[in-house]
Parts: sequence; C-alpha cells; structure tokens
Amino acid sequence: MGESRASETTNRPLADLDDWESVHQVSARDETGPQSTFRDYRENVRAGVREFYQLNHRHQTLGFVLEKKQEFLAKSRRSMGIWEAMEFLNTLVDESDPDADFSQIEHLMQTSEAIRAAGHPRWFVLTGLIHDLGKILCLYGEPQWAVVGDTFPVGCRYSDKIVFSEYFAENPDSAVPEYRTRHGIYAEGCGLDQVHLSWGHDEYLYHVVKDYLPEEGLAMIRYHSFYAWHHENQYNHLMNEHDRRKLSWVRAFNPFDLYSKGHDRPDVAALTPYYKDLIAEFFPAQLAW
Ligand SMILES: [Fe+2]
Ligand SMILES: [Fe+2]
Repeated sequence: MGESRASETTNRPLADLDDWESVHQVSARDETGPQSTFRDYRENVRAGVREFYQLNHRHQTLGFVLEKKQEFLAKSRRSMGIWEAMEFLNTLVDESDPDADFSQIEHLMQTSEAIRAAGHPRWFVLTGLIHDLGKILCLYGEPQWAVVGDTFPVGCRYSDKIVFSEYFAENPDSAVPEYRTRHGIYAEGCGLDQVHLSWGHDEYLYHVVKDYLPEEGLAMIRYHSFYAWHHENQYNHLMNEHDRRKLSWVRAFNPFDLYSKGHDRPDVAALTPYYKDLIAEFFPAQLAW
C-alpha cells in the first residue's frame, strides 16, 4: 500500500490537472499591477505544483521526447471522432473536489464559448473546443508531467525564464555539453518545426488534427503551452519568418485558454448540436489517435 501510494503521488502530484497553469495566471495578473511580483508564483502556487515541475524538468530529456514521439505519433491506439474523444476525456476525474469542479467537456466549452462570444471565426471556436484533447494521454496511463505543464525546447540550453527553471539541474541533459549551448542541436533560425519541444498534450493533438484545421489553429494547438516563447520572448533565435506569424496567433489564443475557466457553467446539452455541426464541418467521422 505504502509503495503504490508513493508511486501514485509521483505520477499525479496535481490534484487538478490544470493547476500547473496557476503559475501563469499569477504572473500575468501581476504585470498589470504597479510592481511586478512575477516570482511570487513560487510561493503562491497550489499544492503539488512545485513537485509537478520538478518531475517535469527532471525527466523531459531529448531522449525521452524522441521515445514518446515514436510511441504516440504512429497514432495506432484508437480510432474515434472528435466528439467521442471529448467524451473519453470527460472520464478523466481530478482529485481536488469532484463536486465543485467543472467537467473536462465544460472546460472545453468555456474556452470555445469565450472565443465565440468575442466574434472570432468558426475554426478559432473549434480550436478552443479541442485544444486540450491531447490530455487523453493521461487515460493511456501517462504521468501528469508527460502530459501537461509548460513546454520548452530540449536539446539546447534551457531558458531561465521557464518556471522553476532551477529544477533543470536535475535533468541528465544538463550534463551533456552539446545540449548546453544556446543553439544546442539546432541551427540559427531553423524554425520551430525543426525543434523538439518537451513532450505533452500540445504536440500529440497537433499530429492528430494537422490535416484538418487552418495553420493558425494548428499553431495555437501545438504551442499553447510554450510560455517561454509566447509569453517570455525566449528562443527567438530558433524562429524563422513563418514562426513570427504563428507567435501572434498563439498570443491571440492564450487569454481564452487562461482566463475563460471557472466562470459560468456552460449548458452542455443545449450547446451540443452547435458543436457537433462545427466538428462535422472540419473533421471526418473518425480520426487515428
Ligand atoms: Fe493545454
Ligand atoms: Fe487549455
């Protein structure tokens, strides 16, 4: 019992899978105040968040990322449509307070409804609806630190603007001279397409949906957790011309991701027909996951 409890905690330090985002909610709020207290996130984070980042930064090596890409990007696990994937994700229950918590589908619809209310195009609304479906990785038994959290390039020097960057000292890649330079294994201006980011739900979903959405939506999905880039202006030396456009799209998406949660509870039953139509407009009935 003791042992299995310990490994449970190791794999799931977050009571709510979205708690890692609280570091960005704190930092973004503080920027509007008279004095920046950005680093306060360290003291103010919810339970388990520090431990979560420690595990994430310790284990996300270049080798780990390549291994996970090989394991998951063949997409040989399931065949299901987008709506079915939403219902599958909905079986993921957080431990914080299941009664008070919003379901995963409610979270998805909070984001998409905020985008719709702002008058954005249909592909943008759909992007909001599906952007976190890659979290089904948790239902394949993947640990939280390999599903959510900030993403960052592996195979080159870690930016000290990444939250809890001190934990990269525990990452074995920190001892590899080739990976410690500014460019690491990459060339100046090579483009983010060529860069391996730490593994998680962004990259996985991007590969599932990449043939069906406009490139703006695909950039939002693939880079929405890459805060060091879209929020802290890091890694610009790896960008190409095209990535500069992607950056503006990802930034347009971020407020809907970060601040649309936790307000009104969406009426899922009433909204379902609208979203089923929207999904059918862009996606085939079945996708490989
Ligand atoms: Fe996400
Ligand atoms: Fe999200």
